[in-house]
Amino acid sequence: MGVLKHYRELLPITDATPNVNLEEGSTPLIYLPRVSERLGIRLYGKFEGCNPSGSFKDRGMVLAVAKALEEGKRAIICASTGNTSASAAAYAASQGIPCFVLLPAGKVALGKLAQALMYGAKVIAVKGNFDRALELAGCAMVNSVNPYRLIGQRSGAWEICDVLGKAPDWHAIPVGNAGNISAYWAGYNEYHKLGKINKLPRMMGFQAEGAAPLVTNKPCPNPETIATAIRIGNPVSAHLARAAVSESNGEFNSVTDEEILNAQKILASEGGVFAEPASCAPLAGLIKLKWLEKLPEGITVTMILTGNGLKDPDTAMSQVGKPIEINDTLEDLMRVLECR
Ligand code: F0G
Repeated sequence: MGVLKHYRELLPITDATPNVNLEEGSTPLIYLPRVSERLGIRLYGKFEGCNPSGSFKDRGMVLAVAKALEEGKRAIICASTGNTSASAAAYAASQGIPCFVLLPAGKVALGKLAQALMYGAKVIAVKGNFDRALELAGCAMVNSVNPYRLIGQRSGAWEICDVLGKAPDWHAIPVGNAGNISAYWAGYNEYHKLGKINKLPRMMGFQAEGAAPLVTNKPCPNPETIATAIRIGNPVSAHLARAAVSESNGEFNSVTDEEILNAQKILASEGGVFAEPASCAPLAGLIKLKWLEKLPEGITVTMILTGNGLKDPDTAMSQVGKPIEINDTLEDLMRVLECR
């Protein structure tokens, strides 16, 4: 039914708020038996790739755009590593308002670029990284500095608790600009105050090693990672993310690109879920913590699979072999099948 309708009571919605809706939210919380067994835990993936623009960004964007319209604004602008731009462009298209997006030139996954262009946004490629594009956007009203984005994103936590009937023991999440981890923490806390859950999770944030300012505790001037969605050196919501981790007795950890790509393959081939590289940082981290004997046996863990794997076909194809080509004869087919 869409986030605004589903969680109307918990959101800052008035009679004057337009009913913006692309049927976002209510994404599946998928139990992953094979990966759970490998790790000795109960592991669920919240597949945010099922949102209309293919990432979690739609949860906050729907509210941000609705409030912008309510306030009389008639255009939106954002800086993005790709998903925010796709989401902003989609909601702007649905409402018939112009959308301007600033992207780091050459560092956005193909699918995300195709989306922003197809939805009809004006796409501006900045010869610099995301952090610089965000500075330039300045009045970037739909970036996660926009409070409505983070409020809308709380709905992910509410859905998890509604489905599980409790909060998980650990909440594992990739961290880039650090908005989503902060939003989830606020969402869990709100449910706790309302008495809907009686325990809060530990917030476990995962960054890519080449873009890990929250792990190293200093800005990273030249962030670099294959997980382009989280290729961010100076997260805007760093203070909120630090508070979430310290209040929940959680941790920030980093993983290498190689570990991220390995986790992406495991999630697809043992879980049946194809998520984009950034989304696989948490699984990479859990695998690493298991190896370090820091993953408690039997706990319930939810990981947020923030974006759809289809958004970045280039990275996926560089990791897997080519299809086996055969002539159109039964003989050829039998030969191939017997090889297996
Ligand atoms: N995963 C994906 C797929 C993302 O696109 C992002 C952020 C994150 C994780 C990190 O979330 O920034 O709230 O800590 N993407 C932003 C964008 C920066 O522009 O699309 P965060």
